Amino acid sequence: MSTSPNFIREFTLIDRGSRVKAQNGCAPPCAHAPMRPSKPLPSPPKCLESSSGCELNPKDKMRNSVIFVSGLVGVLLVACVQAQTPSPASKMDAFIFDLVSKMTLDEKIGQLNLLSLGFDVTGPVVNKDVEAAIRAGHVGGVFNTFTPAATRKLQDLAVQESRLHIPLLLGFDVIHGHKTIFPIPLALASTWNMDLVEQSARIAAAEASADGLNWTFSPMVDIARDPRWGRIAEGAGEDPYLGSKVAQAMVRGYQTGDLRNTNAVLACVKHFALYGAAEGGRDYNTVDMSRIRMYEYYLPPYKAAVEAGVGSVMTSFNEVDGIPGTGNEWLLTELLRKQWAFKGFVTTDYTAIKEMTEHGTGDLKHNALLALKAGADMDMVDEAYLRCLKPLVAEQPSWEPLVTEACKRVLEAKYKLGLFADPYRGCTPERARKEIFTPANRKAAREIAGRSFVLLKNAGQTLPLKKTGTLALIGPLAASQRDLLGSWSAAGDWKQAVNVLDGIKRAAGSDLKVVTAKGANLVEDPYMLEALNASGADIVTDEHSPQAMIDEAVATAQQADAVVAVLGESFAMSGEAASRSDIGLPAGQQDLLKALVKTGKPIVLVMMNGRPLTLLWEDAHCSAILETWFGGTEAGNAVADVLFGDCDPSGRLTASFPRSVGQIPLSYNHKNTGRPYGGDPRVKYVSRYLDVPNAPLYPFGFGLSFTSFSYSEVKLDKTSVQGEGPLLASVTLTNTGQYAGEETVQLYITDPVASVTRSVEDLRGFQKIALKPGESKEVVFKITPDALKFYNRDLVYDWEPGQFIIRIGPNSRDLKSASVQWSKS
Ligand code: NOJ
Repeated sequence: MSTSPNFIREFTLIDRGSRVKAQNGCAPPCAHAPMRPSKPLPSPPKCLESSSGCELNPKDKMRNSVIFVSGLVGVLLVACVQAQTPSPASKMDAFIFDLVSKMTLDEKIGQLNLLSLGFDVTGPVVNKDVEAAIRAGHVGGVFNTFTPAATRKLQDLAVQESRLHIPLLLGFDVIHGHKTIFPIPLALASTWNMDLVEQSARIAAAEASADGLNWTFSPMVDIARDPRWGRIAEGAGEDPYLGSKVAQAMVRGYQTGDLRNTNAVLACVKHFALYGAAEGGRDYNTVDMSRIRMYEYYLPPYKAAVEAGVGSVMTSFNEVDGIPGTGNEWLLTELLRKQWAFKGFVTTDYTAIKEMTEHGTGDLKHNALLALKAGADMDMVDEAYLRCLKPLVAEQPSWEPLVTEACKRVLEAKYKLGLFADPYRGCTPERARKEIFTPANRKAAREIAGRSFVLLKNAGQTLPLKKTGTLALIGPLAASQRDLLGSWSAAGDWKQAVNVLDGIKRAAGSDLKVVTAKGANLVEDPYMLEALNASGADIVTDEHSPQAMIDEAVATAQQADAVVAVLGESFAMSGEAASRSDIGLPAGQQDLLKALVKTGKPIVLVMMNGRPLTLLWEDAHCSAILETWFGGTEAGNAVADVLFGDCDPSGRLTASFPRSVGQIPLSYNHKNTGRPYGGDPRVKYVSRYLDVPNAPLYPFGFGLSFTSFSYSEVKLDKTSVQGEGPLLASVTLTNTGQYAGEETVQLYITDPVASVTRSVEDLRGFQKIALKPGESKEVVFKITPDALKFYNRDLVYDWEPGQFIIRIGPNSRDLKSASVQWSKS
């Protein structure tokens, strides 16, 4: 059998024990390469099959015959070549088969070992033991180290000095950008623009791979209905439909469609599963929910990532159905591999096997076995597999195949990344210099940040601001750089971030005078301050008293025509292990805002935060509120772009903003209950609070533009539909304001009668529509039965005939609707 040159090169890498050296001649592993069955011939074009129902003129017939015959010849040729050339998949199988057959049990277990390695200021610290472990073939991957020099040093150890020369996976938490930091994921999702989300991931992958990395622990797709949970910042919000779209866009962006591209990185969807449903919003807390809720609302984004071809999955810290996710065989094998056909590998989260002991499932050895049997292939940081699997296999040799399977999955990922062909993936210091933190990347970060901001209020068209007169810029976040990057921006250099003060000064021009005051500390509460600073928040308390700071701010505001107050959270108040029970503005900042409001000046509140906050008072008293999240490296420029009207705030919320913490958990797609509240406060025995409406302050999907839009009634092309339909639902959207703007037209569907209770409505589509003032456009949604499906009591995903209400509008609250009957045939 003959082999292609690439085939030989990839085998010789391992076979001859040399690094990237190509050899001539056929290496023995060729014998293992299974022949690929040749492709079935194409069916002839429909119209050539029979003349009925599709008459063509003689010219077209002749053309089609030529196309068909040449297609046939082409396919036969390809089939002949393929009979001799292994397909990529079979090449990989043969390669892995051969490699694994040479591995000792220790080496196989080594591939399952994922270690964290840090830096010191002058370069990588490769701990002696780790160095020895890599040489001994006891390490499959490392994370928390980057730069071409540092990663090359590690990769050299693996491919030059270990017995089988197997390259390392080099991972990192590249969550919303590598060096060019984009807005936090919750903000990225708020763009409702999947091209921008994908672009951000693609740039992140290009920078990360140029910096020596080949694996990112992203996307995080955990659905969250509880903004007390700090990690809501890392996900796409509360909705599974939107969350699925974001998950897929991120996977496409990172993996680029072909992991062999040297600017691609392996994505890792996390945290599997249900991590966002921690009770009370307290991180790492227990999760308990029905299967129907799981399937309908929490699992879809992970599944969507799998369907998009994500190469790896990370387990979650929480339990699922009473069993920790990391040792849950139903989750990792039945659901993920068997039902969803996931083909990549699973890594545990940081020390998650060890933590199973705290959950109460036994000692480390027992939990290592549980995790392996469940389907967790790689062990992050614990070294539990390294320590426990060999003795376990000695006790029970029938467990060795589980180790072999896990090892194969890790090796396959390495193969798909092209690491056996080039372990360095073209990474050089020159490439890093050229491709990281480029002006083009920063430009993209600025545009994406501007489009992630959500305008929550704009009374009397306070915004955009004019570039004349005097503007007071006040607040502890106005000059902050560090906070702009948000959490999980580990490689980002906050000193390069543009703060709001600089952004505004750059944009202001000479006719606008900008005066500033800090006005308040970010956090006054000593209990929280201690916790935040202990974990690196670096919040410096001003030497002036809170009252002196407020007095100075009020005096500054009084000189101005308008006040921009930049308030919110420290970056460290959201993200991992950053839950809050009170999600209002910290008290000192509230005091400042109250004093500023008393000046009678128009107050533009620019919010920075990593979660929905309770802003009831702020909504009632400020003239305008712009939610800017943590906007990344270019946040300050982007804030100026929006404040001065150079960029329309087209972001829309992807998580509801509650009026009060007591409403949580909160999401637009809740169930109706048997006693729904109709809005009359005198009616008792209905599902409501006495002190606050049920509805959130700002609903899911909400956001304003500088301009205004009007929606026509919903038009349906039919009022009864059979089978596959489709149904066309449309509205006419008109820009009725003075500015060009972009609206996010949202489609929701209600299924009022079903065999299991359904939510009041579910998002099933959206379109971003840009219109000039006075312009109108018909926006059409093509609805098929897919949009009607849900998980029934047997967890079968299907739809049931009957009435459906089609709702279209600017957010989940302000919708117009029309009803349709849909039958199966
Ligand atoms: C723990 C976090 O839960 C996870 O999201 C992250 O990827 C790992 N640590 C690695 O840093």
